[in-house]
Amino acid sequence: MTHRNNPKQAAGEQAAQLVKNGMVVGLGTGSTTAYAIKELGKRVASGLRIMGVPTSYQSAYLAAEHGIPLTTLDEHPILDIDIDGADQIASFTAIKGGGGAHTREKIVALSSRRFVVVVDDSKCTDILSHPVPLEVIPSARILVVKQIAELGGRAELRMGINKDGPVISDNGNLIMDADFGAIDDPVYLDEAISKCIGVVEHGIFTGVDVIYIGKKDGSVEILESPGT
Ligand code: 5RP
Repeated sequence: MTHRNNPKQAAGEQAAQLVKNGMVVGLGTGSTTAYAIKELGKRVASGLRIMGVPTSYQSAYLAAEHGIPLTTLDEHPILDIDIDGADQIASFTAIKGGGGAHTREKIVALSSRRFVVVVDDSKCTDILSHPVPLEVIPSARILVVKQIAELGGRAELRMGINKDGPVISDNGNLIMDADFGAIDDPVYLDEAISKCIGVVEHGIFTGVDVIYIGKKDGSVEILESPGT
């Protein structure tokens, strides 16, 4: 199965083959994961028995459309595997939240035995530099700008497209993007942003287990974290 010119599809569909009968699966958000969800839907139609835990309205609706039975973390607090995309990735640390879903995505990722990230090769880098998405309690907006500045970053509200005003997350909070330039120490920044009052969650994900990297020639490179 090759997908010339569609590295996201190649990565998503190949990662979906990791899912086996009886698994409870985290369903990430975004265009790359959508290929994994659609592939899982095809496999369910052919007899695969799984349950999915969505990370957003987007993934819940897509999974339902493709016949994947859904469950919750209340019913299944430990998942077998989570498949999700990323905006940038270096050394098994990802920046996520381009779709503003990073809070639920992180909850699901940390509830999973195996966290698999699917990307095209344009997302891979040596040093992270993508702005870090933040989910912010609305009344803390200005305080968060100040705290992020103290950490050397510049936080801005993410504004809606086809909607006036700011982007509101699936949880009813603001989405901001914090630009730190090159991030030399993502583990430090992860901990520092987590201490900012008013930030519900941020988009630095340090615990990636496996990366599926789709290439333009349709091949997929698989990287396993040495820690897994
Ligand atoms: C959503 C995410 C996405 O996984 C990330 O933005 C990558 O999206 P895409 O696969 O469409 O490039 O973190 O919050």
